[in-house]
Amino acid sequence: MKLSLTALFGLYTGLVAAAVASPQNPFDPPISSTGHALLTSSRHPKHNVHIKAHSAGSWCDPEVRSWTGYIDSGYGKELFFYYFESRSSPKDDPVVMWINGGPGGSSAMGLFLEQGPCRINKDPSGLNDTVVNPYAWNEKANVFFLDQPIGVGFSHGDYGQTVATTEQAAIDVAAFVEIFFEYFDLHGRPFHMSGESYGGRYLPLFASAVFDNNAKLKKDGIEPINLQSVLIGNGLTSIFTTIDTQYELMCTKHIDLGYAVMPIKACVELVEQLPKCHQMLKKHCLETVDHAICTLWEAHCGDLWNLTPLSVERNRYNLNQTCTLEQLEADRCIDGQLDLEKYLNLPDVQAFLGATGHFGLNSHLVNQDFYRALDEVHQTYWYVAGLLERGIRVLNYVGTLDAACPHLSQEKWMAQMPWTGQAGYLDAEWESWQVNGKEAGIFKTYENLTLLKVFGAGHLVPTDQPENALALLNEWIEGA
Ligand SMILES: *[C@@H]1O[C@H](CO)[C@@H](O)[C@H](O)[C@H]1NC(C)=O
Ligand SMILES: *[C@@H]1O[C@H](CO)[C@@H](O)[C@H](O)[C@H]1NC(C)=O
Ligand SMILES: *[C@@H]1O[C@H](CO)[C@@H](O)[C@H](O)[C@H]1NC(C)=O
Repeated sequence: MKLSLTALFGLYTGLVAAAVASPQNPFDPPISSTGHALLTSSRHPKHNVHIKAHSAGSWCDPEVRSWTGYIDSGYGKELFFYYFESRSSPKDDPVVMWINGGPGGSSAMGLFLEQGPCRINKDPSGLNDTVVNPYAWNEKANVFFLDQPIGVGFSHGDYGQTVATTEQAAIDVAAFVEIFFEYFDLHGRPFHMSGESYGGRYLPLFASAVFDNNAKLKKDGIEPINLQSVLIGNGLTSIFTTIDTQYELMCTKHIDLGYAVMPIKACVELVEQLPKCHQMLKKHCLETVDHAICTLWEAHCGDLWNLTPLSVERNRYNLNQTCTLEQLEADRCIDGQLDLEKYLNLPDVQAFLGATGHFGLNSHLVNQDFYRALDEVHQTYWYVAGLLERGIRVLNYVGTLDAACPHLSQEKWMAQMPWTGQAGYLDAEWESWQVNGKEAGIFKTYENLTLLKVFGAGHLVPTDQPENALALLNEWIEGA
């Protein structure tokens, strides 16, 4: 796919002189001798890109080429990404986007702690302090990891802007996707949008924005993005069903563990509070928005299920593991977070990636902004339904040991979701999901909607069950 400048820049007018392709450059999209490209789109005159190309084996993945850098999604909103080619057939394989949740979580978590091409060694001191992940999601797909919204990971607003709602973030992500596909000449390539946790709210809105934006692309004579599916992993798609299912999750015999996790007394206290939480959030946050009262109930009810696993020293991200309050507060319930922050703050690593700024895995500011905007209190399933009605496939996969965005909550909102296939979905039977001849979970599917429960995994399915998580992705993108 050797590109001519005309093909690549056909839609762009303001190609900056310093960014003309360097003759030594082995990469398809033109990159300057400084390793950066800069271009602006005529459709969105305020979009720039600053991208560095990395040859195969120069870091992280020994086999594939990669690119890292910034795409300005509009008016100085610089979104940072890492893009890895497929280990199989990069010219034909589909494109997968990965985002983490939070709100405020960097996708570096997915890349380096979950399903990216490499993991970080303990106490890293240089770029190559990594080991290859044989179960990376770029085995058969071209995968990019996106830090969003601005304020998260390496992404930032040039003029101190902030983004506080998923609706705003979706506009920037759709612009990013449009420019990304243009820049890497991915027109027509099947596209799957994946992510985790708060991604259960992000992804349905982001995919809808990409879908709706396609109408504009068509009107302007540009090939639309071939959006095929959404993959939500342990998502917060409904805060209401998260509340409704806490008792059953923590206080009845767990599907995977085979016992009830919480003590009886704590369970009774929990079950007495939960209906009130549901009712108050619905009343003050959804039906009428009383900001002050809503925020109080959000905080009170959030504590109920954030802290209950800790009261029995369980890790809320994996009920089969222990974690204390001190460990949670120090971000130590998930292994490797501090090493990852150290790695991405090494000056030579940042210089190599073309990234700037202090790296934090979770932005508390972004988190607070979303929280104050009451972003989590919505019926996000309307977006999922909207995608299904338009022929976009949706996979909701969930590690059964997660208490943050539990499997029972997924089951409940998916049953409640009104869409043309609702009756068929409700009638569908659970089936066994086998990987290499062994049961790895159970699933339920109707038309383009699938719920998959992954056994032996918590909030981070690719971390807990790497091989099964790769099988999950590959089966899904092959349409199996
Ligand atoms: C990392 O390893 C690759 C492959 O061995 C090598 O080409 C590159 O120079 C190394 N980079 C650093 C910063 O050590
Ligand atoms: C399911 O998805 C496929 C592929 O996107 C699409 O062609 C088909 O129309 C969808 N089916 C329904 C019933 O929406
Ligand atoms: C829980 O952890 C133990 C010890 O690591 C392991 O043997 C067991 O299989 C795990 N249970 C589940 C359901 O993952």
